[in-house]
Amino acid sequence: MSVADTTSLVIVRDVDSLRQRVALWRRERLRVALVPTMGALHRGHKALMTRGLELADRVVATIFVNPTQFAPAEDFGSYPRKEAADVRLLNEAGVHLLFAPEVATMYPPGFSTQVRVNGLSSILEGAHRPTHFDGVATVVTKLLLQAAPDVALFGEKDYQQLCVIKRLASDLDIEAKIVGVPTVREADGLALSSRNAYLTEEERKIAPALHQAITDAATTIAKGANAEAALKTAKERVLAAGFPEVDYIEARQAETLAPFEGGAGRVLAAARLGRARLIDNVAFG
Ligand code: PAJ
Repeated sequence: MSVADTTSLVIVRDVDSLRQRVALWRRERLRVALVPTMGALHRGHKALMTRGLELADRVVATIFVNPTQFAPAEDFGSYPRKEAADVRLLNEAGVHLLFAPEVATMYPPGFSTQVRVNGLSSILEGAHRPTHFDGVATVVTKLLLQAAPDVALFGEKDYQQLCVIKRLASDLDIEAKIVGVPTVREADGLALSSRNAYLTEEERKIAPALHQAITDAATTIAKGANAEAALKTAKERVLAAGFPEVDYIEARQAETLAPFEGGAGRVLAAARLGRARLIDNVAFG
């Protein structure tokens, strides 16, 4: 266990130290919030920390670039890693504890267990990244068991991920309350993401078109217009703006992600732009 010099943030890298810290707080009857991340922290992550501080007495952030949620051809090796800057942001946010384990701590030799949320993990993002949510579900289950928080916070930015995590927590009788936090955006609507760093200057100008297109589609569908036509228009607008490829733009039931039939809905989208693959979603109805 080590304490950074001029700060109050405590950094731990092994599960026992994490458990000991949390156990001390529990004995004092303090409520504990958990905020899992992969680092390269930005204002979106910070909003989760801030919400955690509102809902609990102590906030534990985790930074772990989880290899099992990346497919072999994806960016695990080049994913941005900047712990010093992250520690500064966590201190500013008032976070109490950072758990930043090594890969071998989370996946020691012989590791053989996987958590899979059936159904939800094979649609939308899952159709394009078939092993992704199994990696997410497994690591988040581990983090929830390791920290045993009262509440855990996740961004609506990754809306399907939030649905997967709510499902696994409910199915596995994990006590932590899973809380979603609204997406933090740039002034032009682009959702903050660690992977926005991959965008060139030119691509950065094109990027907000995704949010604009799905926002307009959501508004149109909410007014009772034909959803298919609205989604087709959104796709065309995104391509016309300069995205070379749209993976999907779909309208779903907000709670279950089943095809939209009415009531509370969500338009979810993913599109490639240069080295980046942007995902976004907006609520309607
Ligand atoms: P990461 O992409 O680092 O995101 C960590 C958390 O921050 C997630 O809950 C994500 O939804 C949230 N987040 C990211 N950008 C946001 C934004 N612009 N506004 C609000 N929240 C935002 O998501 C992961 O890491 C991983 O899959 C993880 C859950 C940590 C499991 O490895």
